[in-house]
Amino acid sequence: KQVALASITIFGAKGDLTYRKLIPAFYNLFISHHLPSTFSIFCVDFLAVDDAGYRDWLLEGVNEFSRTGRADAQKWTEFAARITYVQGDFMKKETYSTLKGQIQKFEDKQQQRGVRMFYFAVAPRFIEVIADALCNQKLCNRDTLDRIVVEKPFGTDLDSARKLNRYLSKRFKEKQIYHIDHYLGKEMVQNILAFRFANHVFEPLWNNQYIDHIQISVAEEVSVGRRGGYYDSSGALRDMIQNHLLQLLCIIAMDCPKAYEAEAIRDAKIKVLKSTRIYNTEQVFKNVVRGQYAAGVVGGQPRRAYREEEQVKPDSTTETFVAARFFIDSERWKGVPFFLRTGKNMAKQSTTIMIQFKESPHKIFKDDITPNQLIISIQPELEIGLLFEGKVPGLHMKLLPMEMDFMYKDAYIESLPEAYEALLLDVLDGEATQFMRADQIEWAWKVVMPILNAWEKSPKKQLQSYESGSWGPTAANAILKPFAKEWFRLN
Ligand code: BG6
Repeated sequence: KQVALASITIFGAKGDLTYRKLIPAFYNLFISHHLPSTFSIFCVDFLAVDDAGYRDWLLEGVNEFSRTGRADAQKWTEFAARITYVQGDFMKKETYSTLKGQIQKFEDKQQQRGVRMFYFAVAPRFIEVIADALCNQKLCNRDTLDRIVVEKPFGTDLDSARKLNRYLSKRFKEKQIYHIDHYLGKEMVQNILAFRFANHVFEPLWNNQYIDHIQISVAEEVSVGRRGGYYDSSGALRDMIQNHLLQLLCIIAMDCPKAYEAEAIRDAKIKVLKSTRIYNTEQVFKNVVRGQYAAGVVGGQPRRAYREEEQVKPDSTTETFVAARFFIDSERWKGVPFFLRTGKNMAKQSTTIMIQFKESPHKIFKDDITPNQLIISIQPELEIGLLFEGKVPGLHMKLLPMEMDFMYKDAYIESLPEAYEALLLDVLDGEATQFMRADQIEWAWKVVMPILNAWEKSPKKQLQSYESGSWGPTAANAILKPFAKEWFRLN
């Protein structure tokens, strides 16, 4: 059900997200014929630039960041002709009346009212102002056609998220609000649902009777870079755990939804968050480890310490690494620990989920048996592997772990769509399955609030330092015990 007519508005037209992600994604959707046959992109920002200069700047972004490489000159010209730069201050009413005039002119020419998408690629302080103006100007008032897309951070804690939810829900219907978490657009993340619920091999084993523990790792090679100003008041718990890692946890732990349909899937995910154990302060320090990177070397390049990064306080206690042990108090997961970790300036980039199964209850071999592991690699490789014990070829019965492997790069030659492509197309199609619902965001905040509060009360307590280029502080190993031997080795 491809939409025929759409106007797309990006607030934050001169920002990094527009440059690196949004325009390259729209361009790739355009060249793969996924955009509506008639569309127009209005890019709103404060700075004064003309259309031509603005389009040239966007082209640089596409050439550098698009998964399909440098843009094709003719296709880019066709695409860029549909981009209009709208200069305006987000705080001023005139900005929105100018925008309204432009959108109406475009729709009048087509003699129909198409889909309107409004993407908030802006700092959080502008969300309410823009939402209010869209509402006052009646720019986004048809609930079947008009949508807003809101980027994280969605609030800085439970109270602010609730306030923002209330604010938006007074102005738009829930089905008009798309809270984007780009992890949900990643190809392998979407495949987890297919893998779990379209096969009957694993689902019967997907519980505490057969699963020993689960590890979810999002290791990043990148530092905070130029985002020190934002990051220093945020930290890894707010930046990564509250959203991306808890989303992965939900997908791994959820029950089979009634149907492949937005509300059923989101209900199933919320059930996981509602059953996640909430810690008291003492439990926080036993179950959660935080770290901050010191200087070191990543990929052969020297890296400075976090406290020396631009716009970071020299005595900052902000965490750049978190490892946490969570429990889901449900019949399915009772007693199964979920270990989550994420950090910046780590040895390698790797987003991997490892599901470790229990050992066979009856042992007939002399050799030590390595428990079965199901390994889901989300990035940079896309791969599903199953580690099993097998007989080493030869005259004796000797066992060793072996691996069954499915690698995307061997199975598919075409380059895979970027997360933003999948998600932007979903918004145009009115498909909300891969977006977070407001109550889900609040439940995710409920899970992390005790941790935030405990750390805020004792900012230095148990804050570990780790060398850049390592796998994080050694203290992170302690939370595995007595459940698991070690963190899964990422490679
Ligand atoms: C963003 C975080 O949401 O996700 C960044 O704000 C982080 O700090 C990024 O680097 C990671 O995304 P990806 O797709 O590179 O794994």
